Amino acid sequence: MRKTIKKLAILGSTGSIGYQTLEVIRLFRDRFEITCLAAGNNIKDFSYQVAEFQPRFTFCSDNTKVKGKDGHLSLEEMSSRPDIDLVIIATTGKTGLQPALAAIQAGKTVAIANKEILVMAGEIITSMATQHKSTILPIDSEHSAVWQCLRGETSEIKRLLLTASGGPFFSHPQSKLTDVTVKQALTHPTWKMGKKVTIDSATLFNKGMEAIEAHWLFNIPYERIEILIHRQSVIHSMVEFIDGSIKAQLSIPDMRLPIQYALFYPERIDNPSLSRIDFNMIRELTLEPVNYDQFPCLKLALEAARKGASYPVALCAADEIAVQLFLENKIKFTDIARIIETVLNLHKPSQCSRLEDILSTDALAREIALKAATEGQ
Ligand SMILES: NC(=O)c1ccc[n+]([C@@H]2O[C@H](COP(=O)([O-])OP(=O)(O)OC[C@H]3O[C@@H](n4cnc5c(N)ncnc54)[C@H](OP(=O)(O)O)[C@@H]3O)[C@@H](O)[C@H]2O)c1
Repeated sequence: MRKTIKKLAILGSTGSIGYQTLEVIRLFRDRFEITCLAAGNNIKDFSYQVAEFQPRFTFCSDNTKVKGKDGHLSLEEMSSRPDIDLVIIATTGKTGLQPALAAIQAGKTVAIANKEILVMAGEIITSMATQHKSTILPIDSEHSAVWQCLRGETSEIKRLLLTASGGPFFSHPQSKLTDVTVKQALTHPTWKMGKKVTIDSATLFNKGMEAIEAHWLFNIPYERIEILIHRQSVIHSMVEFIDGSIKAQLSIPDMRLPIQYALFYPERIDNPSLSRIDFNMIRELTLEPVNYDQFPCLKLALEAARKGASYPVALCAADEIAVQLFLENKIKFTDIARIIETVLNLHKPSQCSRLEDILSTDALAREIALKAATEGQ
């Protein structure tokens, strides 16, 4: 039987998820056509990608330097084009929000790696998706794991068990965290990722965002989402059903697998370039509770999640500013939590049910975060 060719719009092709998406596509060129490709500032790598994949339309920070066969389009125009079958949102921070909403309004299938947009606008994204019959596919490994566990299940979920590696500072003495360097924080024990998500994983803020992401993607209340430390990053998450049975998804930590799962869904594909688990080589698989006092960013993220309304928007904005300042060596690692806490304490909540409300809350929270950063010096 002749396989169909999916037409793709990939936003964020020069990032960690973007590269890995192209790696998978390279192996299955007869199954995909990259119609639209977008990146930010990495013009050099982007021009190689454009030369290789020959997209019809491109977008990058300097459109005079790289051009698709048929020219340029904005991210929103790309994600809502009638001929696109699957939109992959692999940008970081709030960049992917408007393109994702445009895709959803156009009724597209949207694979989301860009978790911040679900944290900031989960309610709008999921309600719009229902309204416009758009399908959202998760790329984040934990959510892909939950999604795979839920496949074929119709009964109620008792609990989602999200696993966290614990990051590079899991056993680090608390008192020494102020001295952590950018290089140390960018050294993740099990995953190789973009800079923002790597710092978010070191503070465990990432896991707080993932709880919010799971809440919206799987329509589950926060009290039924549990986080467990799993140092080996082999169990990517688990689902407990009402009868007490727990399903888990296990694989070698490699983002190409959840990316491939979203690209081919509902098919599973044999990809020889992905390593398999050899249980003779795995000495142990451990699960342990989180010490929330050790990870204030995670605690703050979960508090903001439970408060709801505009809190998650302020949370995301504060973290984006704080992580950027830390990466620029302008603040200490421990200042990240301090800045987020200040922003949340000063935040005046409102209902963020429209995109304009989200954008204005985001802008204000960024201003407060920048002020908090300078005041703390
Ligand atoms: N990396 C992982 O393993 C992983 C795992 C799970 C979830 N995630 C989530 O996936 C998202 C992407 O992560 P990542 O690690 O791939 O990030 P990354 O390496 O920083 O890549 C971000 C991508 O977005 C592009 N970009 C930034 N601003 C843009 C703009 N204004 N217009 C168009 N493109 C823009 C960047 O382009 P330039 O580089 O050209 O500037 C780059 O291609 C994040 O939300 C992260 O939390 C990542």
